Amino acid sequence: AHAPAAEPKTGAAGASLDLRQRPRRNRKADWSRRLVRETVLTVDDLIWPLFLNESSGRTPVGSMPGVERIGVDEAVRDAERAARLGIPAIAVFPNVDPALRDPEGSECQNRRNLVCRAVRAIKAAVPEIGIVTDVALDPYTSHGHDGLLADGRILNDETVSVLARQAVIQAEAGADVIAPSDMMDGRIGAIRDALDAAGFTEVQIMAYSAKYASAFYGPFRDAIGTNATLVGDKRTYQMDPGNTDEAVREAALDIEEGADMIMVKPGMPYLDIVRRLKETFAVPTYAYQVSGEYAMIMAAAANGWIDGERAMMESLLAFKRAGADGVLTYFAPRVAERLRA
Ligand code: PBG
Repeated sequence: AHAPAAEPKTGAAGASLDLRQRPRRNRKADWSRRLVRETVLTVDDLIWPLFLNESSGRTPVGSMPGVERIGVDEAVRDAERAARLGIPAIAVFPNVDPALRDPEGSECQNRRNLVCRAVRAIKAAVPEIGIVTDVALDPYTSHGHDGLLADGRILNDETVSVLARQAVIQAEAGADVIAPSDMMDGRIGAIRDALDAAGFTEVQIMAYSAKYASAFYGPFRDAIGTNATLVGDKRTYQMDPGNTDEAVREAALDIEEGADMIMVKPGMPYLDIVRRLKETFAVPTYAYQVSGEYAMIMAAAANGWIDGERAMMESLLAFKRAGADGVLTYFAPRVAERLRA
């Protein structure tokens, strides 16, 4: 990196303002900027989300340049790459064969489903990496909702029992962290009880505590194939973007119910929520830089409107500054490579 030449020191003759405080003094050179920097991003802050495909090989996700849906074989390769780069954990999301989707999302109960196969293969090949699995029904339901649907309504309690079984099946496959993204009431407690009853007392829960009904999930729904099928929207379970007290309430419940870590999603438009939850609860707090945020940076960079590399690094640093302990980001391998260079 080439720092611009230090500015000439202003001599007494050049000082026309009578200032005791000149905040710019600390910014005058790279060494000084480094010395006063409060927040840094490291590879330990990264969780890399991967999209799984039933078929082998790699298929690009059109709305997420640089991101691919990958077969189990390639997922093992990416997990190995993550481990080599020092990325602590990956998170897997399945694009389930449409023929296996039904109104009840029954494929989520299949011990041989795509997620379980991938988790087993990754655990066997790369035992040292953390594996985060998503608990929600949307990849498995024909209507694309995170819960069971009856007469146009999402059934809370019935959904929670299915999610608890889904979580146990993922833990049996070898998942280290269960991450419920469904936003049903009471799911963290039910999942904790089910995991404990099955002997998985060491499996962690990362609760999507403050998950908003957001327009920024669009490219993700392309990636897992739910955009085309989603009936209506998710506003009866995901949070209203106008709310912040509600995020505190949701996080309080999740922590009471046994969450080890909490998460805010989307990321950059919700940094105020990250800050508030971290300050209120002082528990490990994560942000999800979601698909739409990634797509925006990539699209602007592709047009030459922003410097993509710098925007990537700055956006991730902003999460740390807001108080996040880590970030789920599709940029993870690129950032890790850059940080080691
Ligand atoms: C679904 C789920 C979503 C994401 C993670 N889990 C989308 C949704 O709620 O529709 C979004 C992640 C992203 O946009 O990158 N349970």
